[in-house]
Amino acid sequence: MKQLVIRGGQELTGEIKISGAKNSVVALIPAAILSDEEVILNNVPNISDTKALLNIIDLLNGKVEYKDEIMKIDTRNIENKVVPEELAKKLRASYYFMGALLSKFHYAEIYFPGGCNIGSRPIDFHINGFKKLGAEVTIEGNKYIFKADKLIGARIYLDFASVGATINIMLAAVKAEGTTYISNAAKEPEIVNIAELLNNMGAKISGAGTSEIVIEGVDKLGAAEIDVIPDRIEAGTYTIIGALLGNNLKISGIIEEHIEALLSKLKEMGVDLVIEDNSILINKPNEYKPINVKTLVFPGFATDLGQPMSVLLTQANGTSVFEETIYENRMGHIKYLNDMGADMTVNDRTVIIKGCTKLIGKEVVATDLRAGAAMVIAGLIAEGTTRINEIDHILRGYENIVEKLTNVGARIEVEES
Ligand code: EPU
Repeated sequence: MKQLVIRGGQELTGEIKISGAKNSVVALIPAAILSDEEVILNNVPNISDTKALLNIIDLLNGKVEYKDEIMKIDTRNIENKVVPEELAKKLRASYYFMGALLSKFHYAEIYFPGGCNIGSRPIDFHINGFKKLGAEVTIEGNKYIFKADKLIGARIYLDFASVGATINIMLAAVKAEGTTYISNAAKEPEIVNIAELLNNMGAKISGAGTSEIVIEGVDKLGAAEIDVIPDRIEAGTYTIIGALLGNNLKISGIIEEHIEALLSKLKEMGVDLVIEDNSILINKPNEYKPINVKTLVFPGFATDLGQPMSVLLTQANGTSVFEETIYENRMGHIKYLNDMGADMTVNDRTVIIKGCTKLIGKEVVATDLRAGAAMVIAGLIAEGTTRINEIDHILRGYENIVEKLTNVGARIEVEES
């Protein structure tokens, strides 16, 4: 059994460099198979979600070279195969092969995706989008079969600005006949990154990053190169850590506009932040003001930063309210924070947090990826030793988390027993 063991209370000084974005690279890799030549991705994080997708590329007969954060994907010999359940369920983003295979071969067989257990997470918007483009969809148990004689551009309105559905429909529509319009599209920075890669391959996509995306179908997609954007959730997680423990802690390689909602909330709490170029210098303040936080789609406060942020709110002097609006079940970490000494009361998707409370190290569980990040933050500020179980969730999304934190003075290690 692997545990992350943290001895809390250390001030953190030095620099943490942000890696490429998980939620971008997990869509860029499936997008690459749309090319008939080679695709180069720069700044690729070495996380287990990336590896899980490479297993699918391997199954489809793609050739991959991955060294020093540069990934070269040669898609000249890609073949259409059934994506089996054991590969599909390793992560959420396996569902991007639905759009990509349907687009390339007009046929795809793939099992329902996995991912964090943070709500029911249906994929009905994806399916409805594919159907609008002309695909026939059959569901056999957990397996989805997509078939189309041809894909034809369509007007697709999303009931909710879903990140996954926006990207998947872009992938499916990029080679369709005619023009596709996605209305109420998600505006997250990752969508812009995927559209840029597709455009570099020869696609004609405009409006990515706004709520109306227009995709003019093209016949062929060729060689292309793209830089994976910095991970705004990793950046936000370390910025929150800096707000709690920073003594001239520098977070570098960030894009300020991507984490503006978080920075604004931290300033409201009284955190000392100096933003320059692509970095933030953070010093822990003497006290934190309580605030209200509500998660929203981009550019609102990111749901993926809600759980880490809730740990910071336990240290504010007074009552804070935290509300999660995207997922039904993103409260797995609260029980463990309360065990450690926090005073948090959950009512459906809202948490009332009374602070400031001292946290004491305990044995806890990373119930999902961002709950795991919240446990790491709690462990770093707690008195004594925190032991985190089920750390594979954390390693799915944070590249070199132990090294990055150790380098700035944290006492954190993986113990195997
Ligand atoms: N939804 C539906 N039907 C659909 C699609 C989504 O009802 O067909 C609902 C979901 O159940 C959820 C909401 O819409 O309640 C938002 O889902 P969205 O599709 O936007 O999320 P996603 O594509 O499944 C990605 C990230 C998540 C991140 C969200 C929101 C990946 C692989 N995952 O998920 O990342 O929380 O966007 O920004 O890109 C994480 O990194 O910890 C993580 C969960």
